[in-house]
Amino acid sequence: MEIPWWRDAVVYEIYVRSFADASGDGVGDLAGIRERLPYLRRLGVDAIWLTPFYPSPMADGGYDVADYRGVDPMFGSLADFDALVASAHELGLRVIVDIVPNHSSSEHPWFQEALRGAGRDRYIFRDEPNNWQSTFGGSAWTQVADGQYYLHLFAPAQPDFNWRNREVHEMFLDVLRFWLDRGVDGFRIDVAMGLYKAEGLPDVDGQAFGTVSPMWGRPEVHGVYREWRRLLDSYPGERMAVGEVWTDDHEDLARYVRPDELHQSFNFAWLQAPWSAEAFRKVIGDTLAAVPHATWVLSNHDVVRHRTRYETSEPGTGLARARAALLAMLALPGSAYLYQGEELGLPEVTDLPDAARQDPVFFQSKGEQPGRDGCRVPIPWTVDPPSHGFSPGGVEPWLPQPASFAELSVEKQEGVADSTLEFYRRALALRRELVGEIPYTLEWLDSPEGALFFIRGSLICAINCGTAPVRLPEHDEVLLPSGPLRRDLLPPDTAVWLRRRS
Ligand code: GLC
Repeated sequence: MEIPWWRDAVVYEIYVRSFADASGDGVGDLAGIRERLPYLRRLGVDAIWLTPFYPSPMADGGYDVADYRGVDPMFGSLADFDALVASAHELGLRVIVDIVPNHSSSEHPWFQEALRGAGRDRYIFRDEPNNWQSTFGGSAWTQVADGQYYLHLFAPAQPDFNWRNREVHEMFLDVLRFWLDRGVDGFRIDVAMGLYKAEGLPDVDGQAFGTVSPMWGRPEVHGVYREWRRLLDSYPGERMAVGEVWTDDHEDLARYVRPDELHQSFNFAWLQAPWSAEAFRKVIGDTLAAVPHATWVLSNHDVVRHRTRYETSEPGTGLARARAALLAMLALPGSAYLYQGEELGLPEVTDLPDAARQDPVFFQSKGEQPGRDGCRVPIPWTVDPPSHGFSPGGVEPWLPQPASFAELSVEKQEGVADSTLEFYRRALALRRELVGEIPYTLEWLDSPEGALFFIRGSLICAINCGTAPVRLPEHDEVLLPSGPLRRDLLPPDTAVWLRRRS
């Protein structure tokens, strides 16, 4: 059987507001992305995933959609979108767009109508709230002028749809067709384990985001994905869908990727695992046992960047571990999702001034949680302030970049042999060569304490998460280390790809 393009694809997440600004207003846009496509081609990724660029009041960075079939003027126009897709395709890059079906913006015409009293059944209105809490903090219910309450599992500006109303299904099928007709190769489905709520909206005892509960992971949601799969399959060109499924259970994850449902689902287990060979081994084993097509991800626009997550009191550890984890991830069977800026080794920006913060998590937790702005700081393309090449001219970007971004800029790393950017380029180029020759399956090799060794055909990957150097497994050639090796020793916080000719 032909292997579908997405099975081994490396997909690069573009947080549209923060990638590249062509218009000069300090906010990233579609034309900016188009100008940078050659950079992405050269980096060696197969596809880009664009976070929402639809008309939105931006209460949650665009995950509050007011019109599912347009482009917010801040990001450009439909013509810019078409031009971006055409240029990406010319360069051999696929394009995935984000679909937000759990909720709309409160500015969506349907919700505006509901506020006026008509069509409330498209959302979830009740006379009395239950005890559900919003994922971002505070009650999940907001009262409207006539006394009723509506449900929002995220911000009050993001009312949840009622998926028990057929009209909602029809609207989203139309939206998918709209983007498929414009040539997109796939969809990333926001909060894919949401959509349906348990009948009767029973109270919950505590709640964990992503645990199957009256709020998340209802069985009815699978009917939606079956319907969407039939639509995707009716288009030529292997159109795909990847679900954002937060769940702590691999079996639950597997239900979203049954053969007649989504093609892929994110697998956040690796991203949530501590820096430990044992933890990585368990995540890899459980994932490969549960799903036919695995995906891997270390960072995205919702979590602290992995370089910072892996930091210890020892300077340099975070970056060394981030590079090692990348090499291990890219050696695994399946597809890998990268987040913009990780190829530059960007850290989380932890000292943003409160006045600059925009994430609703910061506001709804009354400042107790810093929120996600720290991983959304605009990309440094060049050394020079004020925007490090993100915006043209002297424009300040929408979130301030720290001075340390100059050293991490593309300009500074390009052509520098041991830079993180050149390391990513080498790893992705090698992976492209190897993917066709090695089997999809993986075998464990005996590994010393603290380390993890595995083999796929001629490729061996070794990662050392321990505190002492370990001897490399038997090999014929060193293909790529994530940091310096000491002869045949793999130092702590380092990974390596080796070739073994059998
Ligand atoms: C997803 C998005 C996140 C957003 C939330 C609500 O988790 O990735 O950024 O805030 O959904 O739409």
